[in-house]
Amino acid sequence: MSTVTQPNPLAEGLHDYRLADPSIMVIFGATGDLSSKKLLPAIYNLAKQRLLPAGFAVMGAAIDDMSDDAFRKHAAEAITQHSRTQPIDHTVLHAFLSEAFYQKVDFSKRDDFKALQRRLDELDSSRHTGGNRVYYCATPPPTYETIIEQLKATTMTTGPGFHRIVVEKPFGFDLKSARELNKIVQRVFHEDSVFRIDHYLGKETVQNILAFRFANTIFEPVWNSNLIDSVQITAAEELGVELRGAYYDRAGAMRDIIQNHALQLLALTAMEPPIAFDANAVRDEKVKVLRAIRPLSEQELAHATVRGQYSKGWILGERVVGYREEHGIPPGSLTETFAVLRLFVDNWRWAGVPFYIRAGKRLPKRATEIRVAFKKPPHLTFGRDAAAELESNAITLRIQPEEGISLRFGAKVPSAGVKLRSVTMDFDYASSFLVETPEAYERLLLDCMIGDPTLFTRADEVEAAWAFIDPIEAAWRDGRPALQFYEAGTWGTAAAAKLLEADGREWHRP
Ligand code: BG6
Repeated sequence: MSTVTQPNPLAEGLHDYRLADPSIMVIFGATGDLSSKKLLPAIYNLAKQRLLPAGFAVMGAAIDDMSDDAFRKHAAEAITQHSRTQPIDHTVLHAFLSEAFYQKVDFSKRDDFKALQRRLDELDSSRHTGGNRVYYCATPPPTYETIIEQLKATTMTTGPGFHRIVVEKPFGFDLKSARELNKIVQRVFHEDSVFRIDHYLGKETVQNILAFRFANTIFEPVWNSNLIDSVQITAAEELGVELRGAYYDRAGAMRDIIQNHALQLLALTAMEPPIAFDANAVRDEKVKVLRAIRPLSEQELAHATVRGQYSKGWILGERVVGYREEHGIPPGSLTETFAVLRLFVDNWRWAGVPFYIRAGKRLPKRATEIRVAFKKPPHLTFGRDAAAELESNAITLRIQPEEGISLRFGAKVPSAGVKLRSVTMDFDYASSFLVETPEAYERLLLDCMIGDPTLFTRADEVEAAWAFIDPIEAAWRDGRPALQFYEAGTWGTAAAAKLLEADGREWHRP
């Protein structure tokens, strides 16, 4: 929603409203963290932008014993606390709450699913939703199979209307489990009705990678190994594991961020132009990149990957505990909270260009960015002294925060002599468009209702990503390379810096 009142010519025509058919969204795990922090606030904000279809309803389904009214109270509190738009618009909130319902469901009980089905059927007739359902598994991955089996057994995936399933990341734990999960899901749902969430794809700045590359003529001719020296993808967070220790200790930075978010950023940065902006055209190109990532050799497994874990330190002036002292983390945990990889995409466009990926928790600041560094000019026309402070050209796509894009280039310092220095040309979303960026989940939930899977990962993409990650995880389990520690509030382990130094490069400080 716009926070400004003055007209903005650049913002005109920005709203390409797409309306979904009426449907019921069933949220399994509706009283959990994800639902409270992300899903319910996102649906409220869609309602506020009038993007929800008439007749739309939400059915919360979870183990807690709750009435519709108690669920509405829970939803109101969650929305008030977590909505990106404030203050809350009470008219919209009340209208939304009157469309929210709750059914207690123990996932192991067939009768509970039958009761859910009866309530959904009633709502279908009173709200004219025509049997259209979106089933959202906002639950831990081990429950997906049970939920899907129960939906099938109670015939909630057949009959009139559409039936879609939304599953959260992580999709599987490794290649084998991802394949099994894909089989389970695809036994019941057609691939076009499967929405595997990677919430990074719903971020405006991530969608803009394709606009930047393919809606302009000036970048694509230089976007290859002829002129690009290297690419750095950084996903840094100040946050620690918070209260998600039980999940995170099994996942680590590799499964939590790199297998999904970071490799998706890489795929969008490296892919060929799709023939259209539609689900299969875009995903066909992404999967080609993921498949072209060269598997790491035995030597690279030990020397081109880095894993670290934070020890106690300082974040924004506050003392924070080490990972092993966090809630729910075993004292001798060897899980990485910081991971670095150097990889190569073996195709014509990217031959020989290293991609460095770095993800970590308890780093000095929250910053996700893609930094494309260009080669140095072939000849120093201005001499070594004049260009001593000159760095090579770079384009930085700032995913978050301070969303924008910057281009670094050399300029002459105003003076009688010749001295060159790097300067930056900057595009900033907030000041260019004067609109507040929607939350990724708003876009993604709307796309599920509309039935557009473009911004969701396809089965083959998920499997290709795991196929690359699996051998790295195996080497790490064997202690190759050894886990190192870094002080919370620093940029990770010494090995991360050394990896780039050895290649004659250094990390960009976001
Ligand atoms: C999630 C991870 O997928 O992404 C979290 O599980 C991480 O550990 C989060 O904090 C980061 O998301 P964002 O949108 O804040 O960059």
